[in-house]
Amino acid sequence: MDGDKIMGRNVQMSWSRNLIRHTAAALAIVLAAGTTLAHAEKALDPFKQVKQMRRGVNIIGYDPIWKDFEKRRFQEKHFKLIKEAGFQTVRMNLHGFDHMDATGKLDDSFFTTLDWAVKNALANDLNVIFDLHNYTDIAKDPAAYKARFLGFWRQVAPRYKDASNRVMFEILNEPNGELTPQLWNEYLHEALAIIRETNPTRNVVIGPGFWNQISYLKDLDLPKDDRHIIVTIHYYAPMQFTHQGAYWSPETVHLSGIKWGTDAEKRKVVDDFAKAQAWSKANHRPILLGEFGAYDKGDMDSRVAYTSHLARTAESLGWAWTYWQFDSDFIVYNIDKDQWVEPIKKALIP
Ligand code: BGC
Repeated sequence: MDGDKIMGRNVQMSWSRNLIRHTAAALAIVLAAGTTLAHAEKALDPFKQVKQMRRGVNIIGYDPIWKDFEKRRFQEKHFKLIKEAGFQTVRMNLHGFDHMDATGKLDDSFFTTLDWAVKNALANDLNVIFDLHNYTDIAKDPAAYKARFLGFWRQVAPRYKDASNRVMFEILNEPNGELTPQLWNEYLHEALAIIRETNPTRNVVIGPGFWNQISYLKDLDLPKDDRHIIVTIHYYAPMQFTHQGAYWSPETVHLSGIKWGTDAEKRKVVDDFAKAQAWSKANHRPILLGEFGAYDKGDMDSRVAYTSHLARTAESLGWAWTYWQFDSDFIVYNIDKDQWVEPIKKALIP
């Protein structure tokens, strides 16, 4: 009897163990299916994503954070400040090539910092764009940098494959120079194919050649069947106004005192944006105005008029925008004084 009981108990125990094991296995299958489903459900229509992105700002491209985390200017609190000010998106300008060893491997500290930035942005309900910003290197000698360019996405894409769909990848900022619009089409297809191996439906941001200019949209060749692409353009026209006194712009560095705001100047922006909108409609691709602004040395009233006119015009067309930039130059926030540059902030978010 006792023996039977013991045996029975053992049988029962092993039966319940089996049940637990089988249930666990079944649950795992359900969970796995759920994950797959969740993954499929996570796919976000790019037009919807652009609606959610609305107003944004470029961050941390030129911050000491990448050399020494302890020396960072951009702090955790700035994500909160950005959100509270009324922005919904941050475009992170990443100089990934600077963090690769001789074999092209990205170093651990690059990812530690990037993880920190993504975590804090998402915790503050901000959408995130990873913008590969080594555009100057690759423009000089595309072939020499191609391995690093593709290698960046070969490492970044799988690492963030399960990240929230609020994280987007932007293949490369402002292709220009030797990376001609034709060559850019080849490079972008290759990078996109690498991204798609692990991120089949994540929205990827891609801009036209020659500095992401509107007039080069017509030369942009995107895979027709990939409907998870957001197209980005940058706008700094007229350069004589937006880049007056800017040391990196030889044609305009000696200029000063140039104002902006006549009806004709405003009309020009509206007309240029209308061309991008026509392209967007014809190609059924949503638009992000990924960079715009006027350098700090220009007359403040004109900068405010320009910034506000571009932001409102973009919004009237249903585009998202990300202002250039939070810190460093064209600043909307003064980290040294710990305060917003109010006129620029108000121009962006009235
Ligand atoms: C560059 C910046 C520059 C800005 C405006 C960006 O894409 O990375 O260095 O200040 O464009 O010219």
